[in-house]
This record gives sequence, structure tokens and C-alpha cells, in this order.
Amino acid sequence: MNIAIIGSGGREHALCKKIRESILTKQIICIPGNAGTLKLAKNIEADILNFKKLLKIFKSHKVDLVVVGPEEPLVEGMVDYFKKKKIKVFGPCKYAAKLEGSKAFMKELCKKNNIPTANFKICKSIAQVRSFLNSNSFPIVVKADGLAAGKGVFICRTKEKVIKLAAEIFRGKFKSSKKLVLEEFIEGEEASYFLLVDENNFVNFGTAQDHKRVGENDTGPNTGGMGAYSPAPIIDKELEKKIINKIVKPTLNALKKLGKPYTGFLYVGLMIKKKEPYLIEYNVRMGDPECQVILPRLNTDILKIFSYALSKRLNKINIKWKNLKCMTIVLCSKGYPGNYKKNFEIKNIENINLKKNSFIFHSGTKLKNNIVLSNGGRVLNVTSLGNSFLKIKKTIINILKKISWNKGFFRKDIGWRVIKNK
Ligand code: AMP
Ligand code: GLY
Repeated sequence: MNIAIIGSGGREHALCKKIRESILTKQIICIPGNAGTLKLAKNIEADILNFKKLLKIFKSHKVDLVVVGPEEPLVEGMVDYFKKKKIKVFGPCKYAAKLEGSKAFMKELCKKNNIPTANFKICKSIAQVRSFLNSNSFPIVVKADGLAAGKGVFICRTKEKVIKLAAEIFRGKFKSSKKLVLEEFIEGEEASYFLLVDENNFVNFGTAQDHKRVGENDTGPNTGGMGAYSPAPIIDKELEKKIINKIVKPTLNALKKLGKPYTGFLYVGLMIKKKEPYLIEYNVRMGDPECQVILPRLNTDILKIFSYALSKRLNKINIKWKNLKCMTIVLCSKGYPGNYKKNFEIKNIENINLKKNSFIFHSGTKLKNNIVLSNGGRVLNVTSLGNSFLKIKKTIINILKKISWNKGFFRKDIGWRVIKNK
């Protein structure tokens, strides 16, 4: 099969590596890809929201299947567009992608189907905001309704802060929507549950916990993710049952009833409080950096899995996992998630002799005149598999020391929950 991968992050490099390993793969193109995918595939520069242009590229490369990394093309209707053109894209249709594309849509769906989630109110005016504030205690979470590249969620401790943010959102701070959702704050432990979904079936596709805040001890602003590990020990069999019965099944059944069955990867973002799962968010894709810790554990041909999903036979495949743990630490450009500079050389990557179970997935990198340059906020993901999170982390830190990139930084406490007391 000829495969196109959409996106340019560590998630896409991890997907590219797994797809390269499949016996079913002929050619891979990455649009646009990065300096890591370039070694495994052909990178093609193109706007991933320009479906017409993508169609031309897919046709000229005889693409059989498109695998999408980021949410935006899915929310913009990529699956629907290419279905009409008879090109298979693994992902949800535009309507089902609203699970991520509109927080208001997701929360309404939860309410209608009794799915456990934080109490909320969808607001279009300051009067509505004030009425929620009068009947709820702080902190309160303010969420822009539409896509906001991870920058649309604010945890607020004062009325003034909520009103200020609400006014900005109503004025159009985020182009995707002028609505917002106010939510009660749920105190607990976050974890993510992943699924593969076809029109009739769903299967678990791993669990993970990531570290969203930029600073050690989970401080500072939110980022796309500074590191992750898999599996998430908090998700045991009992909790998994609750996640499936209280959250996943009601969601998938509701979309089916609406005539818009969900298909593709599904990322269930959870808060666990007193052993009960609460839905915090849905993402209609794999996570980044969660994908970088789930795929190395996968022991079944990924294209075989996609083929089963596309022919609605996910119930017929037994997905196998390595009995190993995995962790990744993200090396970022100094300044991220605020302002940072690009185009700094990363010298030492090529010279590192990686052992069998360690990988470097590229994120914001590009190759120019055979030199690897930084090209984004999150730059590299150093990943390792093993039996103990403590040992895995030591291996990763050793590799990061060897890279010794003085324009970057990384969190040294990734995995603190699973390493403490050991
Ligand atoms: P989201 O984009 O909805 O996942 O929100 C980003 C982050 O904000 C989450 O990963 C949580 O850490 C935090 N968060 C969002 N909603 C809530 C909530 N209702 N209670 C507590 N924390 C939340
Ligand atoms: N790491 C969080 C996300 O991919 O949304």
C-alpha cells in the first residue's frame, strides 16, 4: 500500500516508523513531515487544509490510505471530502470530529447521554457568564468553544479573570468560535484512554499520562505536552469498564443514532476522582506525545489494523502489545510555549548510538544542507522501552545529555507519579 501521513510532529514520526515496519507498506509520503520522517519517507511541502492540492498529490503518488495526525484537517471535513473522491482516510467525518472541534457540542452530547463530565454552561454573553459565576465556586475553567491549538483553556480563580477572558473570546480572540464553555474544576488525576473505532466496533489502543505544564512539579503554562508514559497504571480493569460503559459506549451510540458513526482514533481525556472517570475532553486523533509512547509498545502490524478498521472488522483482530513500559521526554526550544527562535543546529543526533529499545522521534525539525535545524517549540522526543520506568527514564536522560543541545530544555521530572517511592 502507498500511504500518506498528514502532519509534522513527533506523533507523525512515530506513525511513520510503525507504518514503515509494516510488510504491507510500499511507499510513504509525509505532508509536510520533518527531518525524522525524511529518513523513512518522502516529505512533501503542502498546506494540509488545501484538500484540492492534497488530492493532486495523493493521485500522483497513487495513495491508497491517508493517516491523519492533527485535528484540524479532520474538523475541516477531510474525511468527507476524500470519501467523495474515493480515497480512504482513517479518521472521523466532519460531524463526528466536532467531539474535538466544538467543546459546546461535546458537552451537550454528554448532558443528553448522562456521560460523567464537569458541570458546565455554554455562554454567548457576559450575562450568561455572570449567572454561572453566581452559582458556582472557584476555580472555574473557561474554555473557548472551537479549536485553539491547545491555548483555549484557562483555570481561573477570580471573577474578574473570567469576565476578562470571556469578553476577549466573545470579541473573537479565537477565530474558530465566539462561544465559550464555563466548567466546574474537577480535582483529580488525569489520564488518557485511546481507542480505534470503526462503524460497528471499537478496541482499546493503549493508555497514557502526559505532562501538560511547561515547568517541573506541574507548574507554569500549558503546553502541547512535555513528556508521557504508557501504560497509565491508574487505569486498571475496573476503571476501564467504567470508562467504556459510562463514557465510550454512550458517545459512540449517540453518534450512530444521529446517523454519523464515529471512525478513527479516539482520545478520551479523563480526570479520575475517587476511582470514577470524568470526561474532560475528546480528541479525534492520537495524542502528541502520547502516540510516541503507545506505538513503540504495539506488536501487531499497524496497516493490518487499519485495514480491519476500514472494513469494519475491528472485532476480528487481536491487537498485541509488548509487555514493556514506554516513556518519552520532549526536548523543547528555550522560550516554549511562549516565544522562541528557530533554525538552531542540533549537532549530536546523528552520532548517538541508540540501543534497540530507544528511539528519537523528531517534532519541530527540518533538514537543510544535511544539517538538522530546530523548526518548532517541541523539537525532539527521546523515547525508550523497558521494564521499569525508573530505568527507562535514566536511559532517556543519558541520551538527552549526549544530545546536549544548549538552545533547548526539557522537564526532568517526567513520570514522577510512577517513579516516586521507587
Ligand atoms: P482540555 O483542552 O479541555 O483538555 O483542557 C486542558 C487541560 O486543562 C486539561 O488537560 C486539564 O489539565 C485542565 N482541565 C480542563 N478542564 C478541567 C476541569 N473541568 N477540571 C480540572 N481541570 C481541567
Ligand atoms: N498531549 C495532548 C494532546 O495531544 O492533545
